[in-house]
Amino acid sequence: MLEIAPSLLAADWLNLRGSIVLAEEAGADWLHVDVMDGHFVPNLSMGPDVARAVVQASHLPVEVHLMVEEPERHLESFLATKPRAISVHAESSHHLHLLVQHIKAAGCQAGIALNPATPWESILPLMPDLDYVLVMTVNPGFGGQPFISSMLPKIASLRQYLQASEQNLPIWVDGGVGLGNVSQLKEAGASVLVTGSAFFKAEDKREFIRQMKAASH
Ligand code: DX5
Ligand code: ZN
Repeated sequence: MLEIAPSLLAADWLNLRGSIVLAEEAGADWLHVDVMDGHFVPNLSMGPDVARAVVQASHLPVEVHLMVEEPERHLESFLATKPRAISVHAESSHHLHLLVQHIKAAGCQAGIALNPATPWESILPLMPDLDYVLVMTVNPGFGGQPFISSMLPKIASLRQYLQASEQNLPIWVDGGVGLGNVSQLKEAGASVLVTGSAFFKAEDKREFIRQMKAASH
């Protein structure tokens, strides 16, 4: 069964609690918090104070997606907000293994996020240490961008590798996800779908999640 993680980047920031309640009432499985530093990606977004407020305001598990240079500088302050999971970008640090150990030692799930140009094979040695892999299907930095469909074979080949090696890691997919590509993503082997614009623009959010989860291939 696919899980759905609304991205609060597309929420109403003047009424964040209201947006969180919308996600909860619609049947979301996670909340996704995008952290951008203006260096790793051109945009700036939420920091640890917002992440903490979200964790405290919701009964849903929170996943923090760190799109920052030198994530080691910020990790401690995000771990202190007690999210369920944190992903760091493969391209953002020379010490990914260390970061993953650090996240897990704090009792948090550790994921690695991959930019579109980064092959999943680049993190193959880390796979046994990870709790999940997050495949970007847009170039990170902004919501509302079109889905890059050439990422589907990358997701499928990662799923094949995981199955063949009997590792049951969830594959998260982030960027341009909605009703138009959910079937293909399911077929490719995705597990958790991050959805920003499509979720928050949907008139009937409960029905949107129902249809996403009902997708078949
Ligand atoms: C993009 C972010 C995404 C973004 C997705 O850099 O990582 O999580 O919020 O938004 P949509 O679903 O609009 O592409
Ligand atoms: Zn994200």
